[in-house]
Amino acid sequence: MKMSRGLAAAAGIGVGAGALALTYASLYERVQYTLRHFAVPVLPPDAEPIRVLHISDLHMTPGQVRKAHWVASLAALDPDLVLLTGDNLGHPESLDLVSKTLRPLFKAPGAFVFGSNDYYAPVFKNPFQYFNPNHKHRYGEPLPTEDLHKILVDGGWTDLNNASADAVVSGLNVHFAGVDDPHFDLDDYDLVAGRVPKDTDLSIGLTHTPEPRVLDAFAADGYDFAAAGHTHGGQVCMPGVGALVTNCGIDRARVKGLHTWDDMLIHVSAGLGTSPYAPVRFACAPEASLLTFVPTER
Ligand SMILES: [Fe+2]
Repeated sequence: MKMSRGLAAAAGIGVGAGALALTYASLYERVQYTLRHFAVPVLPPDAEPIRVLHISDLHMTPGQVRKAHWVASLAALDPDLVLLTGDNLGHPESLDLVSKTLRPLFKAPGAFVFGSNDYYAPVFKNPFQYFNPNHKHRYGEPLPTEDLHKILVDGGWTDLNNASADAVVSGLNVHFAGVDDPHFDLDDYDLVAGRVPKDTDLSIGLTHTPEPRVLDAFAADGYDFAAAGHTHGGQVCMPGVGALVTNCGIDRARVKGLHTWDDMLIHVSAGLGTSPYAPVRFACAPEASLLTFVPTER
């Protein structure tokens, strides 16, 4: 079958534009690390603002020195608290680089939960599987989870994987709870279930994946705020349309950024990395967020 010259030219332009977009997404936008700022009105009326740094989805692989330096440099923001919502490792041998990346941030108190990419190395997936909400998980080789856990705990951060904790942060009584990764059904909310204690100034829930069942549970228990990652903000977005998929049960409108969830505020981070098998970002730059918690307006 012969193709007309016009059709062949159009096909050529289409292929050229696609190649250009792919080059841009993999070589340029994927490394445009961006700090987002949000004011989060969740504190008691007379409280002083606190600065909370939210980091997620590093997906670190050996040699990603530029990302490591950028994240480590966030320590200069002098946050009052760091929230880390998982998927730190993208390779079994990236532990040292993750450790070097986070070490400067350990001067602030922190809390963390894990994602699937803290347990299993990524595996190649057909990208079109992301459009299938029922696609099956495939497990890669085990990652050094225990070593990562030790680094974070030795750094003074609190493990919230199916656990809760109370701490004083900048003079505020803060109640924390978290779940292990719901994307791999590791969450056990029963272990943290219960109303937020009455003498709490601020309550924070953490989950790697913003699954509605987990967010509903935090909201029903009276949490002020929840942080999550996992979605990568859609990772490959369409300008003017936004994310095409969320890779979990949350709706596309809340795939990233600050939103309400019942009476609770949630922040979903678009994260800092990608799977090494899909190293592209389009209309969705890698990000960390500095959340300034301020007195509530409600
Ligand atoms: Fe991730």
